[in-house]
Amino acid sequence: MSIDYDIQDLDLAPAGRLRIEWAEREMPVLRLIRKRFSTEKPLQGVRMSACLHITTETANLARTLQAGGAEVTLTASNPLSTQDDVAAALASYYEIPVFAIKGEDNETYYRHIHAALDIKPHITMDDGADLVSTLHKQRTELIDGVIGGTEETTTGVIRLRAMARNGVLRYPIVAVNDALTKHLFDNRYGTGQSTLDGVIRATNVLLAGKTVVVAGYGWCSRGIAMRAQGHGANVIVTEVNPLKALEAVMDGYRVMPMIEAAPQGDVFITSTGDINVIDRQHFEAMKDGAIVSNSGHFNVEINIPALQEMADGQPRRVRPFVDEYTLPDGRRIHLLADGRLVNLAAAEGHPSAVMDMSFANQALCAAYMVENADKLEKKVYSVPEEIDAEIAQIKLRAMNIEIDVLTPEQEAYLASWEEGT
Ligand code: ADE
Repeated sequence: MSIDYDIQDLDLAPAGRLRIEWAEREMPVLRLIRKRFSTEKPLQGVRMSACLHITTETANLARTLQAGGAEVTLTASNPLSTQDDVAAALASYYEIPVFAIKGEDNETYYRHIHAALDIKPHITMDDGADLVSTLHKQRTELIDGVIGGTEETTTGVIRLRAMARNGVLRYPIVAVNDALTKHLFDNRYGTGQSTLDGVIRATNVLLAGKTVVVAGYGWCSRGIAMRAQGHGANVIVTEVNPLKALEAVMDGYRVMPMIEAAPQGDVFITSTGDINVIDRQHFEAMKDGAIVSNSGHFNVEINIPALQEMADGQPRRVRPFVDEYTLPDGRRIHLLADGRLVNLAAAEGHPSAVMDMSFANQALCAAYMVENADKLEKKVYSVPEEIDAEIAQIKLRAMNIEIDVLTPEQEAYLASWEEGT
């Protein structure tokens, strides 16, 4: 069978296949679902356009959907996150059409999204909602054929909820990010580990004794703060939400506005989902040598145009993924990975063991969507509780961990209201 694709280099395929197989070892839940899908075929004949980070873990998700009978086409959900060897292996060994090249420009990024939509999907699978928004803005002729979609990330869910609120969302979406087996693990432990991994691979700086400023205290930022502290860094958290700020204080971090943190920080990591969290006035206050990075979905959290305006001339690329901007007074600011997701650009993204649960949710929610297509409305839905519970159960079993079960007496106690003091 010949398939359509646009990738960097097909010769990278053998290396990509080895890495996909390595990731699979840490993905027992997805393996089990793949086995089940290959006999039950819940996605038989379903065309799926998936806009995801093209990683070893995504490759294993695509194989699972394919085993379920789906025709899957993949496109990148970020211009810098593609693993080119994985893209090559997908096209070469797994017959999965893929449109993704690490470092592609914006025009190519959107050309690839359109190529993924050309298959006329029944289901969209998104990470950040660029696929859904392109479909709603530019490819409206395809919408009647879509039965539903899934969304992977916090930023995407926020965009889709805004679409639903404004009455423009034209098909149902399941917010995979809302599953407990997704955000409590992927966002916290996945982002925590992979973000520090990205900063360290890019810079090789010692974090012990440094001041690390973490912008935001959602699930991702919590993981980042926790892991930075684990490295011996002195962590400052900035927040706009009083409740989250209070949690950060009681978790033992210093909390202050970014303008106060700016002159103290050695390393800055944003993960808020909002724009210009690090802005001109913050660069003006930073120390010489400050390292600035982002782990939020879009490259808008750091005001890079302001930094470019402030700096003398072009930045100097001092290491892969490290651009040095020199300010008129001689201070140097180091921007990592063009302000894009540092964990996926400079490292390999979340480890497979957490993506196992996120992508188990994706696979089961796609099947749920097909099964319930006639019942769902044009809304953003949470992941059904049974799916979440099943994934937690399988994951525990795969880790050889057993837990207690309620005795009949305990069940009756929990169901009653009469017994008190
Ligand atoms: N998002 C964060 N890490 C990822 C990974 N390893 N694969 C796919 N999407 C991701």
